[in-house]
Amino acid sequence: MKTKSSKSKVHLKDFWIQAVVNYKETGAIAPSSPYLARLIADHSGLENSKEIVEIGPGTGVFTEELLRRLPPKSRLTLIEKNSCFVNLLRQKFPGLTVLEACATKLDVHLGQQAISSAGAVVSGLPWAAMPDSLQETLLQQIHGILAEDGVFTTFAYFGPHLLPSGQRFRKRLEQSFAHVSRTKIEMRNFPPAFVYRATKIPPTRPKK
Ligand SMILES: C[S@@+](CC[C@H](N)C(=O)[O-])C[C@H]1O[C@@H](n2cnc3c(N)ncnc32)[C@H](O)[C@@H]1O
Repeated sequence: MKTKSSKSKVHLKDFWIQAVVNYKETGAIAPSSPYLARLIADHSGLENSKEIVEIGPGTGVFTEELLRRLPPKSRLTLIEKNSCFVNLLRQKFPGLTVLEACATKLDVHLGQQAISSAGAVVSGLPWAAMPDSLQETLLQQIHGILAEDGVFTTFAYFGPHLLPSGQRFRKRLEQSFAHVSRTKIEMRNFPPAFVYRATKIPPTRPKK
């Protein structure tokens, strides 16, 4: 029988192989840590959501944390482009819908699952490794599927977020959403990373 630690070693190996074979789309040298998974889940707004969509789950580190906190009667749907990760995710989470699809057609793929809007969209996409036009298309798709009162969360590596592509992403995020905030840096991630939280509605000011 495979223990939890031997399973996570297998997943790590899978991730490294994809990081080499498919670097541009994987965009990372290691899966996220459980600490970053907790940070993104803390800010994801999933407690108020019926439909939750995770894009780019990879080996499912964020998925595990989201599932732990999933409110009753809500649904988590995964969208992953890499077939190797899709196979692994389907084995690991047999009860979940894992769509083998590119998020550039999020509206079409979610539409086929009768999902027209999501209260929480959680992304593991490697924004800083993407060209301009791809960042734009993906953000438009995410904005289109997010409910008016929904929350979009995504992470960035501290350091690479200062690269032109990382800065471009932040600017585009701020242009697309009414409010964008940033969390503390999670140093127990390799590399250290933080979470962006974006909403279509600005936060309401407390009444005086
Ligand atoms: C940086 S890895 C993050 C994986 C995981 N969320 C984590 O934090 O360990 C990026 C993931 O996004 C997936 N991905 C990249 N571009 C995608 C796209 N256009 N549509 C769907 N998934 C994509 C990659 O295959 C990979 O699994």
